[in-house]
Amino acid sequence: MTNIVKIKAPGETQTYQIWIGAGLLEKSGEWAKHCLAAGGNKIAIVSNKKVFGLYGSVVKKSFEKAGYKVSVWLMQDGEQHKNFGSLEELLAFLSEEKFTRADAVASLGGGVAGDLAGFAASVYLRGIAMLQIPTTLVSQVDSSVGGKTAINTAYGKNLIGAFYQPKGVLIDIDTLQTLPRRELTSGFCEVVKQGAVSGRGLFNKTREFLKNYPVRNFSGYFTAAQSKNFKADLAGLIKAQVAFKARIVAGDEKESLSRADNRSRKILNFGHTIGHALEKTTHYQQLKHGEAVGYGMIAAAEISKNLGIFDKNSLKSLIDVIALAGRLPRLKNITPEEVFRAAAFDKKKAGRVTTWILLKKIGEPVLIGDDKIQTSMIKKSIKAILK
Ligand code: NAD
Ligand code: GLY
Repeated sequence: MTNIVKIKAPGETQTYQIWIGAGLLEKSGEWAKHCLAAGGNKIAIVSNKKVFGLYGSVVKKSFEKAGYKVSVWLMQDGEQHKNFGSLEELLAFLSEEKFTRADAVASLGGGVAGDLAGFAASVYLRGIAMLQIPTTLVSQVDSSVGGKTAINTAYGKNLIGAFYQPKGVLIDIDTLQTLPRRELTSGFCEVVKQGAVSGRGLFNKTREFLKNYPVRNFSGYFTAAQSKNFKADLAGLIKAQVAFKARIVAGDEKESLSRADNRSRKILNFGHTIGHALEKTTHYQQLKHGEAVGYGMIAAAEISKNLGIFDKNSLKSLIDVIALAGRLPRLKNITPEEVFRAAAFDKKKAGRVTTWILLKKIGEPVLIGDDKIQTSMIKKSIKAILK
């Protein structure tokens, strides 16, 4: 079962393909040959010990079978390692291994490995080919597609980075079988986010999937008697999600500051203003990224309701679907004031106004400057999620 979604890489004449399906890691070599220009013969796999232990050898063997010389660079696991130190080590590794502009970097892992490897590929020799093999739900529906790459600094997340499109993305849905429950919830929150800003169709598709396949039993569906149906539904959901994201990116690759319409790339940041603030206030310790976005979506939807643009039933419907994604951890030892202060320093702050992504309806986002939203309303929404 291979669904090939063809995506036009924005800003360039070439297209890149996203392959989505089950059992695709074994086809990594064939896929790389398809994506990369002839002439290069080296690929550096960027992963961590855990993910490489699970899936590294099949990818490496497949690359080698296709004729590539493969080297492997393993980073430490965790968000805190998406930093300058890891970037420097990876760039030194590529130099030591004498990678040239004809060679390629392939990330194998979640958004942390993908964002770091993508940024390294964008600056090494002013840019070498990048391949993404995402193995978490967050990375399969969101971070591997669209070309945002970044590292974190002491000042905050993703503050240094580049827009750098990959040459291809390989999504093997079978890798999600080993994903821990909280990582699944985090991923499904991003899935709900894209549904909520996309349109009723994608939102309903997401809700139906989560109703049919409750997250608590997720790994079991891969081996159950009905696994064929499950895998087809999962691949279908991911395909629809990726196609939506790719459409938005194609229309606004670099998230233009001047765009304020509801197809601007900014809409993909729904839930992120409070989400980032919660991550920062909890020192990136209590919440996974998607979990923080789960809370952030509730806060943004509360503000939308209090502004009178989003009705009560729609708010309930959104909260219900976020609940289907799984239980969000209780927020401890933080005050609404701290979260509010952290939200005021959002990296998307352009000039003096922070743009909030709010909702008029499910699937109908609207961009509103914080100068149009009373501070008390923002604080009230933060209090609601801290309850
Ligand atoms: P992650 O990369 O830290 O992965 C989560 C955990 O799952 C890690 O411990 C990892 O080792 C483990 N893991 C990965 N694949 C696994 C598998 N198949 N089985 C078992 N364990 C596995 O986190 P993430 O949620 O994938 O990504 C979050 C990062 O992505 C953040 O840094 C965020 O800023 C970034 N992000 C970037 C974009 C973008 O557009 N570039 C979009 C969303 C998120
Ligand atoms: N994850 C948001 C974006 O890619 O724009």
